[in-house]
Amino acid sequence: MLFRKARQYGLPHPRGLLLAGIQGTGKSLTAKAIAHHWHLPLLRLDVGRLFAGLVGESESRTRQMIQLAEALAPCVLWIDEIDKAFAGVDGRSDAGTTSRVFGTFITWLSEKTSPVFVVATANNIQSLPPEVLRRGRFDEIFFVGLPNQTERQAIFSVHLTRLRPQNLGSYDLSRLAYETPDFSGAEIEQALIEAMHIGFSQNRDFTTEDILEASSEIVPLARSAQEQVEALLDWAKSGKARLASRASEVSMNSQLKQQLGGSE
Ligand SMILES: Nc1ncnc2c1ncn2[C@@H]1O[C@H](COP(=O)(O)OP(=O)(O)OP(=O)(O)O)[C@@H](O)[C@H]1O
Ligand SMILES: [Mg+2]
Repeated sequence: MLFRKARQYGLPHPRGLLLAGIQGTGKSLTAKAIAHHWHLPLLRLDVGRLFAGLVGESESRTRQMIQLAEALAPCVLWIDEIDKAFAGVDGRSDAGTTSRVFGTFITWLSEKTSPVFVVATANNIQSLPPEVLRRGRFDEIFFVGLPNQTERQAIFSVHLTRLRPQNLGSYDLSRLAYETPDFSGAEIEQALIEAMHIGFSQNRDFTTEDILEASSEIVPLARSAQEQVEALLDWAKSGKARLASRASEVSMNSQLKQQLGGSE
């Protein structure tokens, strides 16, 4: 196994990744795909539940969670929406519980020697305590942006292959990708589900036209929450994160501003 070879070579175990970015672009999906790809067990940490219950229990629960992950190692520990859990850690009025839990976690993250690969996801990067973003916590921070036209076509293809494996050829994938600027992967999936409703209600299979009709009813988040999306893009461009795909790197400079204006 690659991990073992790397250890023999003298490399430390990888710590993990932070995936930051726009809603619905596949961050959670990526966490699951990593575990699947590596054939490792996936543990999903619900940070909200660390804080539930009696005062004082949160810290012991955090330590138990760490012990459990280490006992199951090698494994992937998925911390979804880490920004929601640890936003504004210092300013919280909970007698320091959040900040102690956070401290325990962040210390473990930087000191751990066990093969627990942490995959954390976040939407609102600005609200994360700066310690999370410091070097040595995660191996890499990736910005997951909106898919460009080529990537949208690939996403349509993935979902239609799953939904209509026999009938894939009847869909105009390049037109679908062209007509859905600003759509995230989740919005593409939503358009497909709505197109299926249209087809189903008329007792026939759904068509490219149905998908386009359904898409025209969806206002992508990139437009409805333009300010939030632009702030994230600015953050990504400031060089604090690596871009998750080369394609988005190219489009980032030349097209994204345009895309956000609604034309591509
Ligand atoms: N790159 C992609 N390829 C294929 N499908 C995608 C992609 N991105 C998103 N999707 C579809 O959208 C769904 C939602 O994606 P996911 O939950 O991973 O997004 P997310 O980035 O975690 O969003 P959020 O920030 O709202 O948690 C996925 O289950 C998948 O069906
Ligand atoms: Mg998610």
